[in-house]
Amino acid sequence: MSDNIDTKKRRTLLGATVAVGTVAGVGAVYPLLASMQPSARALAAGASVEIDISNLQIGQQVTVEWRGKPVWIVRRSKKSLEDLATLNDSLVDPNSDVPQQPEYAKNANRSIKDEFLVIVGICTHLGCVPTYRPDIAPADLGADWKGGFFCPCHGSTFDLAGRVYKGVPAPTNLVVPPYKYLSEAKLLIGEGEIT
Ligand code: FES
Repeated sequence: MSDNIDTKKRRTLLGATVAVGTVAGVGAVYPLLASMQPSARALAAGASVEIDISNLQIGQQVTVEWRGKPVWIVRRSKKSLEDLATLNDSLVDPNSDVPQQPEYAKNANRSIKDEFLVIVGICTHLGCVPTYRPDIAPADLGADWKGGFFCPCHGSTFDLAGRVYKGVPAPTNLVVPPYKYLSEAKLLIGEGEIT
C-alpha cells in the first residue's frame, strides 16, 4: 500500500472520527461533548491543542486533531489498568523502550495519569487508523482480548496502552505525543518533554 493511499485513507477516517466520542462496550453513542472541542484559538495556533476532558466517561474515547493526526484520549477503567499489567509476555515492547518517546510513556500505562491514555491514532505499520475495541473477548479478536485497538488494514493489534502485540505487522507501539496537564481536567497536546 502506498503512502499516498494511506494518507487518503487516514484523512477519510480522521474526518469521520475527529471530535466524536466513541463509547466503550455498551453499544450506545454519547452526544458530542462541546467542552471537549479544542478552542478555536488553539486550532488557529496549529501547534498545540487544548482539550477539556472533565466530561469524559470511563471507557469513552474522544478524538482530536493535532498537526493533521488523530489523537485519542481514552479514559480507562480500573479493571483495564489491572489487565494491562498482565499482558507483558504477549507484547513486543511492554516497557516502551524505543527512543523518542516521552518519559511518561515508559511505563505499563504509558500515560501521565493512569486513567487517561493520550495517544496518536495512527498504526505504526503503514499508517491506517485503527479502531477502538474496548469489548472483552469478542469473537473476532479472541478469548484473550482485554480491550485495545485493532487495525483493519492488516490486522495489527494494540492493547489499551497502545502497546503492540507480538506476531502482527506493526513493528512498534502507537506513539504517545507530547502533552501536559494545564489543570486537573485540561490537557495541552503538543507540548511536553520527549526524551
Ligand atoms: S497499517 Fe498495516 S496493520 Fe495497520
